[in-house]
Amino acid sequence: MRPSRIFILFIIALTVLLDAYTSAEQDNDQEFTRVILTKRQNNNVQTFQEFIKRNFAYIDKKYQRLKKRQSPTSIIPLTDEISLKNDVGYYGPITIGNQNFTVTFDTGSLDLWIPDSSCTSCGNHNKFDPSKSSTFQSSTDSFTLSYGLTTNQSVNGFKAKDTVIFGGITITQQTFGLATNDPFSDLAEDGIIGLGPKNVAGFKDNGVMQNIKAQKKLSNNIIGFHLGRKKSNSNDVSFMTLGGIDQTAVTGSVEYNNANVSIGLWIILLTDAKVDGNSVDAPPTPSIVDTGTTLVYGPSSVVGAIHSRIPGSKTISQDSQEYWVIPCNTKSVVSLSFNGGSYNIDPAELVMLPNVEGTLCLSGIQSNPEGFWLLGDVFLSSVYSVFDFDNNRVGFAQTKIMSSPNNVISNGVKISPPVFWKTFVFTLIMIFIYFY
Ligand SMILES: *[C@@H]1O[C@H](CO)[C@@H](O)[C@H](O)[C@H]1NC(C)=O
Ligand SMILES: *[C@@H]1O[C@H](CO)[C@@H](O)[C@H](O)[C@H]1NC(C)=O
Ligand SMILES: *[C@@H]1O[C@H](CO)[C@@H](O)[C@H](O)[C@H]1NC(C)=O
Repeated sequence: MRPSRIFILFIIALTVLLDAYTSAEQDNDQEFTRVILTKRQNNNVQTFQEFIKRNFAYIDKKYQRLKKRQSPTSIIPLTDEISLKNDVGYYGPITIGNQNFTVTFDTGSLDLWIPDSSCTSCGNHNKFDPSKSSTFQSSTDSFTLSYGLTTNQSVNGFKAKDTVIFGGITITQQTFGLATNDPFSDLAEDGIIGLGPKNVAGFKDNGVMQNIKAQKKLSNNIIGFHLGRKKSNSNDVSFMTLGGIDQTAVTGSVEYNNANVSIGLWIILLTDAKVDGNSVDAPPTPSIVDTGTTLVYGPSSVVGAIHSRIPGSKTISQDSQEYWVIPCNTKSVVSLSFNGGSYNIDPAELVMLPNVEGTLCLSGIQSNPEGFWLLGDVFLSSVYSVFDFDNNRVGFAQTKIMSSPNNVISNGVKISPPVFWKTFVFTLIMIFIYFY
């Protein structure tokens, strides 16, 4: 027997509303909720055909939105660069003009560069070949980028544009540098991708994340890092999530700190430091959050106060520079505090191997005569870090050893495709029955 049209109409309406409510419940985006309410209020439909048409348009729109929310959220596996058993850096894949490269994922700089085919000092690195790309746009604009706090390493070359694929997202007309010299030719990775918050320095042109935002490729322009601690646990993998957070890598909540992004760096306020739970009364000081730096550097007086509480530590002098050394087997737990919380540095990560004098090793925290903090991987590998390009903030959460990434969650809200697909398919079937 053919079900009555009114009954089917009722079922369709119920399904769509149920679907809308389920989605709204999973979505903490106010705007999305408001759109649904507006739809219901304006639902002065005259004919059933119009009803179907509107609901199809509505479902389609919602589907597009979910697709947009969900599918670009991707995980980029990172390789943990090991030097003398230490975790010293993290790099991952990128495709530029159909050619694959590996680049350091660097929140402490803004620009993307890789070696040019003409480079003779770029070691065994992959070099860009313009003839392999139909979308390549050359320029005569030259560039110089400087890296390093204590050392000044410069990369020179000229700028170009091409299509870049980053974490599965295609970005057109991305400005990048073709380097004609390479001070990092001994490293495994070919170049650097800058993941700073604002394109005010360097090329002064949109970086990859700025273009992802400008080209509206993600609903949430955020990146999250789980930087592995292979020195502590050889199974710990490293990865970056794009557009979301891997909630399974996080224990507790992500606590955010507003960042000062005026000079194109992620600068937040470090409010204190502790050793074994006891405060050293560090004054609140700006700190640059930089995945592209290995160690942590801080104001000399605070770094001195920290080490005075680590039994057996002292300074040694080399090339007229003072360095802090600590017992290679120290169990002292240094923690750094921010508005949102206090985070322990894994003692194994604080010790830089091997021993430099007797049983003493280089400390992972060194003095910065400039007086600000620079938070490198010694700290960042001990937390899950989140860089929010929409709200100019940096979040930290406790993290754990991860043998593989999974369960990507967008905007802290779990997306549940099965519920959506079930009702979507059900709606289609009901509409089909109606016309049949
Ligand atoms: C580049 O990397 C992608 C993704 O890993 C892979 O599918 C593709 O085959 C690689 N291309 C080349 C030329 O190696
Ligand atoms: C680093 O070197 C470059 C080029 O040699 C120069 O332009 C820049 O000012 C130097 N930066 C610092 C901090 O010394
Ligand atoms: C942000 O940082 C810049 C550069 O370090 C500084 O001049 C400015 O005062 C800072 N702004 C705030 C609100 O702290």
